[in-house]
Formats: sequence, C-alpha cells, structure tokens
Amino acid sequence: MLFFRKQAITPDEQIALAKRFGPIDIHPFGRHMETHPEVGLLDQTQPKRDGANRWHTDSTFMRKPPKLAILHAVKLPDCGGDTSWSSMIRAWELLSPALQRCLEGLEAAHDITGPLRRAIAGGHSVGDLEGVRAAWPDEIHPVVCRHPDTGKKFLYVNSNFTSYFLGMSDAESQALIAFLFDWVRSPELQVRFHWEEDSVAIWDNRCTQHYATADYAERRIMHRVSVAGDWIPS
Ligand code: SIN
Repeated sequence: MLFFRKQAITPDEQIALAKRFGPIDIHPFGRHMETHPEVGLLDQTQPKRDGANRWHTDSTFMRKPPKLAILHAVKLPDCGGDTSWSSMIRAWELLSPALQRCLEGLEAAHDITGPLRRAIAGGHSVGDLEGVRAAWPDEIHPVVCRHPDTGKKFLYVNSNFTSYFLGMSDAESQALIAFLFDWVRSPELQVRFHWEEDSVAIWDNRCTQHYATADYAERRIMHRVSVAGDWIPS
C-alpha cells in the first residue's frame, strides 16, 4: 500500500502513472469515464452494498487478475467513505502451521456471479446471470500463492468470488471458507485510510484485499485505473 495526499492528477496523468507499472486493465463490466475508458468511475451517493463493501481482491474470476490499482479521490462525502486494506501475506503468516499444512496444495473456484447475484437480489441490476456465467466460467486458483516479486506466500481467497474448495465436500468447503473469510477481516491485518480530496492510493492487488466502507449518504467520486496482471496465481 502506498498513500499520497494532495495529488490533483488528471485522468491522463493517472493513466500515465499506471502505465509505468504495465498495461492498463479495463474491467469487463465496470462503469468507465466516457472520455477515458481506461479510468473506472466509482460515483455513488447511496452505496449499494453489493460488492465493494465486502472484503475482496479485484477480479479473481480472471485467469490473470489485475496486479495493481491506483485510486484517486475526486469528490468525497463530508463524513465516511473510508477504504480499508488487509494483508494476505500477514493473513497467511499468522495462521497455525497445522492449518497452513491443510491449505497448501488446495485449489478454489472463483465465480464471477456472486456480486451480480447480490446486485440482482438487491434490485440494483437486471444483469444476465447465465450469460455472464457462460462468458466467464469459474476460474481455479491455488488457495496459497507465492508473490512473483518477493517469493512470500499469501492467502488467496476472497468473499466476492471464492465459492468452494476443490476435492472437499460442500460442508467442509463452506465451513473452511467461512473461517477464512472471517480471518481476513482481522484488524491485525488491516490499514484503514481516511480519504481527502486528491488523495491517491496505490496497492498490490495480488496479495491484499480491500473494503470500501458504505457509510455515507453524499456523493463520492473515485477514479480507478488498474494494471493488468502478468502473473497467473500460483
Ligand atoms: C473498490 O475498488 O472496490 C472500491 C474502493 C473504494 O471505492 O474505496
């Protein structure tokens, strides 16, 4: 995580900054600036509570999820709208050796339809669930990955997309998933950032999860640019 204050960057500058780390990833379904399709537009007044306010790593339903994201606070509510991040390296390191042995070698399915399902249930989307599932079948990723730059191990399950563990009964899988989703919420793993306008956050999307606090009722506008992954989770 890197945080910067007082960075009044334009969308072009944000794109140029992202390109220093690699090619831009354009989210297949997200809303984007009309003038800059590379810039994801998060513009909400009443947050819908159907994805961003769950602990998640972006787009793990992809074979190669984005490796990095840059978020710029453009307009903020007077109160609320903080974002928290959780370290999956620390999440792994703090598990007992016995549970680490159980998790190593496991694989999990990552299902794109979870957030869409919740959005439909909440009345915020009439998305075509079956069409999305056909276009994006489950992606299988290891439960424990190694960071391609540092070699450090990290936990790779998140509550937006991880749906079950391969080779386990449904009951075993759901019990273990519930424990791990709870575990990644531990305050010991987290940093919480209070935005000011023109704050910028840059994070490694491989080994972190984030959570946008849905506690505001005024307009909040964020610009996000993601950098494509050159790494298949392994
Ligand atoms: C997200 O990338 O999930 C949203 C982050 C935020 O709006 O704070």
